Amino acid sequence: MDLVGLSLPLLLVFWQWTTTTGAAVTYWTYTGSVGQSKWAEYFPDCGGKAQSPVDVATVQTQYDPSLGPLTPLGYSQHGNKPFSLYNNGHTVVVPLPGWMGLGGLPWQFTAVQMHLHWGNGAPEAGGSEHTINGQSSAAELHVVHYNSELYPNMSVAMTQQDGLAVLGVLIETGEEANQAFWNILNYLGRIRHAGQSVSIPAFDVQSLLPSDLGRYYRYNGSLTTPPCFQSVLWTLFTETVKISHTQLMKLETVLYASKEEADRVVMQDNYRTPQPLNDRTILSSFPLESVKVYTAGEITAIVIGALCGCVGLAVIVRFIVKTIRFFKHLHNERVLVNSSTSSWDVLPSVRPAPVPRTKEPGKELKQDVALNTTSEPGKKEDPVPSSV
Ligand SMILES: *[C@@H]1O[C@H](CO)[C@@H](O)[C@H](O)[C@H]1NC(C)=O
Ligand SMILES: *[C@@H]1O[C@H](CO)[C@@H](O)[C@H](O)[C@H]1NC(C)=O
Repeated sequence: MDLVGLSLPLLLVFWQWTTTTGAAVTYWTYTGSVGQSKWAEYFPDCGGKAQSPVDVATVQTQYDPSLGPLTPLGYSQHGNKPFSLYNNGHTVVVPLPGWMGLGGLPWQFTAVQMHLHWGNGAPEAGGSEHTINGQSSAAELHVVHYNSELYPNMSVAMTQQDGLAVLGVLIETGEEANQAFWNILNYLGRIRHAGQSVSIPAFDVQSLLPSDLGRYYRYNGSLTTPPCFQSVLWTLFTETVKISHTQLMKLETVLYASKEEADRVVMQDNYRTPQPLNDRTILSSFPLESVKVYTAGEITAIVIGALCGCVGLAVIVRFIVKTIRFFKHLHNERVLVNSSTSSWDVLPSVRPAPVPRTKEPGKELKQDVALNTTSEPGKKEDPVPSSV
């Protein structure tokens, strides 16, 4: 029997194993003798032309206006039944209840599980699988769904071209702890060894996602672990979520990839490096110009610019109002000047105070006469004097 004749039945047997169990049957790791550069030798799909993760070169993405916001269905209705947390030797997995799903895709998708990928605790070292313009994030969350409109279960769907939909969330570190992530991280100490699982209180899965579910990249790719089936419609959100350094440390140091009885191997760097895009196009749900990520300096400049603009506008408006008032005033005064020979009218601030009336009719008359020649207090604001 020749080599092809020998390997074909073996491959078929292997194919059946992986498709019926839905899990890798062959031992694999991220580094070493069965590390990611060797995956394709044992799992042929890992050497395919549409593998994940990929680097997203943002200028090469293509805006597709038909890509609407994704709608998590039932993510927040977690119910009272506890979730479970499982160390599968590669990552921490949270199986999700079947009523959770995704709307906004060409088919109905049902949630299966979520898991994380991370680095090794070194500052500035990567941890995410997808990268944006060559930049890694600290970690990445994947929420896996299968096409329940076309396929009966995950095991069948994962082998089909349109079988799965995975949400990718890039995780960065920030100042504050992310309360939603404590729902997972708090319990890692109870599943330190591969094969262990623990019950945890159910929680709102949507709280793990970024708030803007309308801006994302979309492409056809694969599972990022063996057997690397090319069955995933990927959605990678542009908004990242933040966890604290303490939280990231916990994720990166608590778990072991090894079983309880074996020598301890810390579970770190469980991410696959970006794969060739080949002839695929990455679509974006938003036009390119709004992709721009502003630096702190640029934001400061924009804020200052906006403030200056507002102040400038206020000054102009004030100037216009003042000018209008001035001309109105000037007009009124001209009328007064024209109708009177007295200079008192154009200098209202130095007008003599009204003289109190006395009870002597003669004096009153005299005063009125005297005032008439200068100004009449009762007619100060009257633009058209009655004594024409
Ligand atoms: C998935 O569905 C197929 C086809 O109906 C069935 O043969 C298989 O046992 C199912 N697998 C699981 C894990 O339920
Ligand atoms: C994914 O592949 C399917 C089938 O070839 C195609 O119809 C679809 O447009 C592709 N999606 C993306 C985002 O490239």
